[in-house]
Amino acid sequence: MLSIEVIRFTRNQRILSAFVVLLNIAVALYLLFVDSQRSPTHDRSFSFPHALATLPPNASQSESIEVGSSSRTREIATLASAMAEIIRLLIPEPSTANEYLAQHEPKTFRFYVYDNLSHEYTWQYSASCMKAKRRLSDTCDWGESVCGEKRLTRSPYSKRRLNRNGDLVLSKAFSSYQGILRTYDPIDADLFVVPYPSQAHFHCNQTSHEDVETRLLDRLAYFNKKTRRKHLFFSSAVRSASNKFMGSLPLLVTIGPVDRQCRIGRNCGQIVMPYVNTNPEYQPMVVQKNLRSLKDRKFAMVAKFNAYISGNSMPRSDFLKVVGNVTAIAGFPVLISALGRRRTMPNERSVLEDYRNAIFCPCLRGDEPPQKRLFDVMMSGCIPVVLDFPSKDPGYRSHFASMATSTRGAYPFAKGSFHGWPEMGLDYNEFMVTVNGTCGVSCIVPTLEDLLLNHRDRLVNMQERLAKVIKVFSYGMEHNTLQHADAISAILVQVKHYVDSLGQVS
Ligand SMILES: *[C@@H]1O[C@H](CO)[C@@H](O)[C@H](O)[C@H]1NC(C)=O
Ligand SMILES: *[C@@H]1O[C@H](CO)[C@@H](O)[C@H](O)[C@H]1NC(C)=O
Ligand SMILES: *[C@@H]1O[C@H](CO)[C@@H](O)[C@H](O)[C@H]1NC(C)=O
Ligand SMILES: *[C@@H]1O[C@H](CO)[C@@H](O)[C@H](O)[C@H]1NC(C)=O
Ligand SMILES: *[C@@H]1O[C@H](CO)[C@@H](O)[C@H](O)[C@H]1NC(C)=O
Repeated sequence: MLSIEVIRFTRNQRILSAFVVLLNIAVALYLLFVDSQRSPTHDRSFSFPHALATLPPNASQSESIEVGSSSRTREIATLASAMAEIIRLLIPEPSTANEYLAQHEPKTFRFYVYDNLSHEYTWQYSASCMKAKRRLSDTCDWGESVCGEKRLTRSPYSKRRLNRNGDLVLSKAFSSYQGILRTYDPIDADLFVVPYPSQAHFHCNQTSHEDVETRLLDRLAYFNKKTRRKHLFFSSAVRSASNKFMGSLPLLVTIGPVDRQCRIGRNCGQIVMPYVNTNPEYQPMVVQKNLRSLKDRKFAMVAKFNAYISGNSMPRSDFLKVVGNVTAIAGFPVLISALGRRRTMPNERSVLEDYRNAIFCPCLRGDEPPQKRLFDVMMSGCIPVVLDFPSKDPGYRSHFASMATSTRGAYPFAKGSFHGWPEMGLDYNEFMVTVNGTCGVSCIVPTLEDLLLNHRDRLVNMQERLAKVIKVFSYGMEHNTLQHADAISAILVQVKHYVDSLGQVS
């Protein structure tokens, strides 16, 4: 709490924060008391601010911290088996998956999480900083976990879910994790996790290359030439408006596209994360249950986007021109609406509800290959429709532009991203409709019409495969963190794969 004072507060916020400080002191004293009552299983020697960093979200969770070995044994079953479940999703063929599991057993995997970063480099700092900076009543994606119902009405969608929240969400999840795969002894660690939300921090404080080198890296006790490639960093994006230095770190989780395309046959630590959706309907426990079958979807197509993006918005404006008047495809109604210039959604909840009611959802290029929309759409069980081009990556297509980043460098957990295991990873063609990019938007409606009229079985297969895999795009938040087959356990599977393969020649 101490350094939160750095941030300028309004008067009401000051009163509130004084109250929060008192509350936190009480809880921290209680935790210190509890801590002194247990026999120290490992010397974590946490001082006051670090006890705060590991505050459990509610009472039932604090039990699992206290009871020690029995709950830890239960936890081993959760995260390690979540990772095994991910492996089986990424390798659908059972005997190959068994072979993989025999070589890459998640149960023996151990990671160390730095719990003494200086305060400015913690997720708590960036979360309060974002709050102070954005002055939104609704900053629930910035460290406050699942966004409640009330917050969703009239939310300025693109502002609340700014792309930079991904590294903060991951930093928080790893800092809070108390389960058995976390080791407190660096000797046992296969991996070192640095829970630093680099782009959230950059967004608030314009951190420089030197800040990160001297105030973060130089102070990591176990970071050296030998362990560098086993240090995991988070950076929501490595782009022009970001701290580009993060892109030079060998093991980095970022939203796509990757900064450097990994050459085929190389072991690369550039890991693509899905965009974060913190809405309750998209949590790993319920995301599949919320899906509707093909026959329960009333729209053939739902398209909601604006054409006023800073980058190349041609396909979107072409779409509105060419397809904008279409009212039905193969007898099913179509819903097309252009969002306003400010790129805000009047009601995010109803937009997502429309996606859950649609068979097809076009995802046309924006500034970068992936976009939040793609993940919202997939997790709503709506089949994405993309324009397809050759890429500069032999054997892979681009869904962005001709000779641009391939799907392997743009999408999370894609086939071709697991060194030595070409059969591992998601094949996005199994659950996306790709439309001839040269022909462009005018080919969209005929392609969809043909599928609806003549290839129902193909559509059902696509929907079923999509339903199976969507968990890997979902972030378990709060008490759901790091125990389900979800985006975070999938990231861990890919990170472990990279680390396991380090010794091998590439
Ligand atoms: C970081 O940004 C926040 C919000 O603008 C500001 O209150 C704080 O003083 C800044 N911290 C530093 C170290 O510059
Ligand atoms: C507390 O955590 C438990 C699971 O650990 C969950 O079922 C419950 O809903 C949580 N309560 C609150 C208020 O978040
Ligand atoms: C963090 O802890 C390690 C191990 O106890 C110590 O060597 C290091 O100096 C600490 N770093 C900071 C920034 O306090
Ligand atoms: C769509 O409808 C508008 C308004 O009726 C009309 O001006 C426009 O020409 C139509 N576009 C196409 C491609 O038919
Ligand atoms: C894609 O569309 C272009 C232009 O309409 C056409 O020339 C080309 O043959 C099409 N490619 C395929 C594979 O159908």
